[in-house]
Amino acid sequence: MIEEKVPNHIAIIMDGNGRWAQKRGLKRTKGHKKGADTLKKICEYGYDKGIKVLSVFAFSTENWKRDEEEVNYLMELFIKVFNDNFDFVKKKNIKVVFSGLREKISDKVQRAMDKIVNDTKDNTDGIFNICLNYGGQSEIVQATKKIILDIKKNNIDIEDINENTFSKYLFNDLPPIDLLIRTSGEYRISNFMLWQMAYSEFYFTDVLWPDFDEKELDKAIESYNNRERRYGGINKK
Ligand code: FPP
Repeated sequence: MIEEKVPNHIAIIMDGNGRWAQKRGLKRTKGHKKGADTLKKICEYGYDKGIKVLSVFAFSTENWKRDEEEVNYLMELFIKVFNDNFDFVKKKNIKVVFSGLREKISDKVQRAMDKIVNDTKDNTDGIFNICLNYGGQSEIVQATKKIILDIKKNNIDIEDINENTFSKYLFNDLPPIDLLIRTSGEYRISNFMLWQMAYSEFYFTDVLWPDFDEKELDKAIESYNNRERRYGGINKK
């Protein structure tokens, strides 16, 4: 039997919470609540399998356009989850980082974010990257601005800017994404981690995020194992 390769970095667009709830005659917020339970389950399972970095799209820069009630619910859910539900990050020695713009995020939410970051900053067995108020293009724009400032201050030479140095100016300097998973039958990237996804494999499933479970993650990893990654080259048989 050929041994399974576990992707080093998996990124997930957790889509379909609203539809999951609506199908059951529930409020959309119930879908987010169930989605948060799914996230915890998948993280615990994923890190146990050997995934080193997990990135998730928690809230996009466009999600502020949703009803105030839904946005408020999500923000309260984030506080609760960061404070109470993510105890696995400490047990499993996982470091939590956030990607996204701080602006617009309330002080209360920022305090919960800072606490979990601070509590896990010395953890070394894996990284959990939570994208909150995040957009991929805006990440690249803000990195470019920071580079220009560093050039102006003579901290870096234009000649030294390459893909590696550029990565260091992003919200977090993460390894490339090996596998992107998007649930709920949508086939879009939706401005998620554009830079880091340059060579990633894509896995789309019709399963709605709250129904995504350990077996579904195994299926995604199995599909990844059947891909031939060439990075633009040719694999000689
Ligand atoms: C997309 O489903 C999901 C979101 C916008 C929110 C993702 C949030 C969670 C899974 C909650 C917990 C997260 C953390 C980090 C604690 P949708 O609402 O767009 O679903 P729809 O497409 O069916 O309407």
